[in-house]
Amino acid sequence: MTATFSSLRTAQARVADPAAAMPAGARPSVPGLELELVGYSGARVLLLREPGGWPFVRKIAGSAGQNERLKSQASKQQRVGRLLAGLASTPEILGEGEIEGRYFFDMSYVRGLDGISWLRTAGFEGVSRFARSLIAVMEAFAGTREEQRGPFDFRRAVFDKCSSVAGTLRDLDPEAASAVDRLVAALHDWRPGLLEPCMCHGDFTLENLIVTPSGELILIDLLDSYLDHWLADVAKLGQDLQAGWYLRHHPPLAMSVVHYLRTEIERAVVKFDGDERNLAVVQVLIATNLARILPYAKTSAERRFVYHRMLHFTSNIETSHLASLEKT
Ligand SMILES: Nc1ncnc2c1ncn2[C@@H]1O[C@H](COP(=O)(O)OP(=O)(O)O)[C@@H](O)[C@H]1O
Ligand SMILES: [Mg+2]
Repeated sequence: MTATFSSLRTAQARVADPAAAMPAGARPSVPGLELELVGYSGARVLLLREPGGWPFVRKIAGSAGQNERLKSQASKQQRVGRLLAGLASTPEILGEGEIEGRYFFDMSYVRGLDGISWLRTAGFEGVSRFARSLIAVMEAFAGTREEQRGPFDFRRAVFDKCSSVAGTLRDLDPEAASAVDRLVAALHDWRPGLLEPCMCHGDFTLENLIVTPSGELILIDLLDSYLDHWLADVAKLGQDLQAGWYLRHHPPLAMSVVHYLRTEIERAVVKFDGDERNLAVVQVLIATNLARILPYAKTSAERRFVYHRMLHFTSNIETSHLASLEKT
């Protein structure tokens, strides 16, 4: 059965005015365009259908400079799809090409709700199944090793990243810069040891998940990350569930749902490798994610929103005696 236009229209929460998303001239007309979907990366995400055919999604690099990143997104999508078989999926890649110097790939269209809309409407059994699927995905990632990469000095990466963000902000917004300085100071004596790189989603937010009507979890928008580790995915989920990142575009979810998910994930994060210190690593990574967002905030009000949340995690770090949580 072919999906009707109206069923496609209701399937995703946010749909852009196709005429408004890109400057005139930068927008090649695309035969078969049904809808323009909205994301955050600057890529164009189009729902297309050839006459009499099934709908599919085309993701086009926002500029030629983004071609390589989008190419590696397509290959990661396939690799992760194979790894997670039976636990969750990624949309099937149908083809790839170039339009006016910009790389694109086509993938199957997934009918369903994004993670936030799903959590808003699901009953307890649905929320619980969602939690189990998320945890199964992270556990599968945790069981992989990226042998060719070698152990990773993640403290150094975090420290360097935050120091460079503080430098970028120094003239622009001294208050934001001093908030990041406080985070850097909180990390100063921490020696968490090395992490072994493994596979991960790379941008594991609730907006990058789709849940199908039958409850299957589909991962979209996989990204390379400055930290290839399953704990980075836990921290991205924490950015939504603990730092309320999704609230900038959506009304709050029920507190009971958020609390349930947080508790289930925290329990799992310790259970995977029996290491309680993972929880402190996640707090550090959430604070770092927020610091990394700061230079991209468009107004001082947006920056304040972000660094107030970042300071909350910084004070968790200050009181958690990170030095005593060092890995041996
Ligand atoms: N294969 C797909 N099936 C259905 N909807 C999709 C698919 N890929 C993307 N979308 C929708 O388009 C939005 C933007 O796509 P995404 O890949 O996340 O772009 P960005 O990298 O810009 O965030 C998603 O949040 C989702 O709603
Ligand atoms: Mg996205």
